[in-house]
Amino acid sequence: MKTQLFKVSEEHIDSDALKEAAKLIKSGGTVAFPTETVYGLGANALNPEAVNNIFKAKGRPNDNPLIVHIDKIEMLDELSPEVSEKAKKLANAFWPGPLTMILKRDKDIPDAVTAGLNTVGIRFPKNKIAQEFIKLSGVPIAAPSANLSGKPSPTQAEHVYEDLNGRVDGIILSEDSEVGIESTVINMTEEPPVILRPGIISKDEIESVIDFVALSEGITKGKVPENPASPGMKYKHYAPEANVLIVSGDKDTIREKITTFAEQSKEKNIVFTSLNDVNVYKNVSNLEAVRLGENPEEYAHNLFSYLRKSDASGIKNILVEQFTVNDKNLAVFDRLLHSSNYTFL
Ligand code: TXA
Ligand code: MG
Repeated sequence: MKTQLFKVSEEHIDSDALKEAAKLIKSGGTVAFPTETVYGLGANALNPEAVNNIFKAKGRPNDNPLIVHIDKIEMLDELSPEVSEKAKKLANAFWPGPLTMILKRDKDIPDAVTAGLNTVGIRFPKNKIAQEFIKLSGVPIAAPSANLSGKPSPTQAEHVYEDLNGRVDGIILSEDSEVGIESTVINMTEEPPVILRPGIISKDEIESVIDFVALSEGITKGKVPENPASPGMKYKHYAPEANVLIVSGDKDTIREKITTFAEQSKEKNIVFTSLNDVNVYKNVSNLEAVRLGENPEEYAHNLFSYLRKSDASGIKNILVEQFTVNDKNLAVFDRLLHSSNYTFL
């Protein structure tokens, strides 16, 4: 398949290029596009065949539902027959932005989108290119992250190109994703509502708008639930080729464990520090040290690109210094847990 490439910058949005990309959507094609969280792979959410082509391009299991992207809050009522007061409050507080709400689905939404569930995930992204692209397409756009299934989500245009060139009809190449990890997913069909996937919009922030919400069991216990509420949670995720190991203990124990591991290893390793200074690893053989950020936002912004960068430079083990989990950094820890497949050192 020949993939059409469209270069569009957020600073100066080229509407003609976006119109061409939107034409592909209107004719049932698949187009990758930037959002503020990660790049998405879109198709007309009301066209089951187009939606099926998303699953084929990614190699995604069919029982994992897609999020539907909209470009104005009013579209909510067309996609869901039951939008609660709480859902409206969250939409007003956080949209456009990195929040996905699971709501009762309208019957016109194809099963291909929802994997046959009676609910649908809906998000109004903040990225201006995404908004203009949805508007020009004239339909709601179903889109998962634009990576091959199982790989880290793409936060740079080149990640999308690497994974999907030749497999999709179009790719909108743009700037790096601002947030860097996927949206917070909250199930609004339960009372209290349940956060299924933590994101940069945290539980505390949500509770400042609609008092109490719960965290799904898989997140709080740090393991995969047997019957996950969000089907995507049970699959291996965000995984680079390298092994990811989460190194636990106090600051000194962590440093010792990592130093010993690297020195005994004959392979290339990298450590993502958060407790120790990168300099403490300066003279350790077979080990590179990076600090992905001074705060959870920076860590989130850099995480997926570093997972991919590590693979590109032949690194075999990614050692992650474990940090104390709190409301703000929970989402980053969640992605690290998934990348490591819950492997600790
Ligand atoms: O930030 C994001 O959310 C990005 C951008 C492109 O918008 N999209 C994204 O999509 O991360 P995806 O497909 O990679 O992850 C969507 C997650 C999956 O875990 C899926 O199982 C869950 O949301 N999900 C979607 N619809 C659902 C539903 N009706 N009920 C429960 N979980 C649902
Ligand atoms: Mg994904």
